[in-house]
Amino acid sequence: MPLSSRHLLGLETTPKEDIKLILDTATTFKEVLERPIKRVPTLQGKTVVNLFYENSTRTRISFELAEKRLSADAVNFSVSTSSVSKGETFKDTIRNIEAMKIDMVVVRHAAAGTPLYLTQLCDAHIINAGDGIHEHPTQALLDMYSIREKLGRLEVVKVCIVGDIAHSRVALSNIFGLKTIGAEVSVCGPATMIPRNIKELGVKVFYNIDEAIQENDVLNILRIQLERKAGGNFPTLREYHTSYGITNERLDKNGKDILILHPGPINRGVEISSEVADGSHQIILQQVTNGVAVRMAVLYLLGTQN
Ligand code: CP
Repeated sequence: MPLSSRHLLGLETTPKEDIKLILDTATTFKEVLERPIKRVPTLQGKTVVNLFYENSTRTRISFELAEKRLSADAVNFSVSTSSVSKGETFKDTIRNIEAMKIDMVVVRHAAAGTPLYLTQLCDAHIINAGDGIHEHPTQALLDMYSIREKLGRLEVVKVCIVGDIAHSRVALSNIFGLKTIGAEVSVCGPATMIPRNIKELGVKVFYNIDEAIQENDVLNILRIQLERKAGGNFPTLREYHTSYGITNERLDKNGKDILILHPGPINRGVEISSEVADGSHQIILQQVTNGVAVRMAVLYLLGTQN
């Protein structure tokens, strides 16, 4: 069964059947990653360009590994070493890359809507690896995969996304994907970080982190995005940590066996304490492992379409 779209631009309009297909296919590829030889010939002869206009550790390396595990030719574009520094436009850059006969583009860009714009510029399959504060669909898919792997289901699981909701593409993709699949989604943070119309997306809002811990099965804790000026939304980082930081003391006080996710990178001592980031509730590095399998599934399902 193929995906219903030629591209993965976001989860807002991705149907439940597509999400399930990606997650189920990722299970097969996770088994490949456990083998001594972690490679299958599925995308032999296909070329994937990783077009990263913004910094990344996890997503870029995860996509490159996924492409190599599928035997695709992976090409990395980094804006700092490209002819963009000589004044070449985005459109000309894409047209030149496409002229080299490529099949797929994985794109990260600070401007929301860049992946959609790319679909109008070239014929390759486009995968959104994070566009501004819009969406980061493969992060949400790997988060969903990790919750399902740990709890055995996603339907009616109560997931609270904590922190800088207003600046977070991870939050938006998680809300869309989790709601589509039937999870109960909420957000928690200071009012300055919660968009005013968030309830229109069908999510509950908590302003008190202890209530959020008591009422949910999963916390997906977001990084305070200091580079997007998020630090201006509360008096000090110490105050944020005191009011919303996830600590062992806070988890113990609420007596909950709660699952902790974090997409990374982590600000230790701000949104999460080191003891929780390395502790028994969290599955942060399992999320990273699952990211390769999920991205293999997305690349395979798009790359084998006609
Ligand atoms: N989670 C995430 O997108 O991390 P990177 O910015 O390192 O890719």
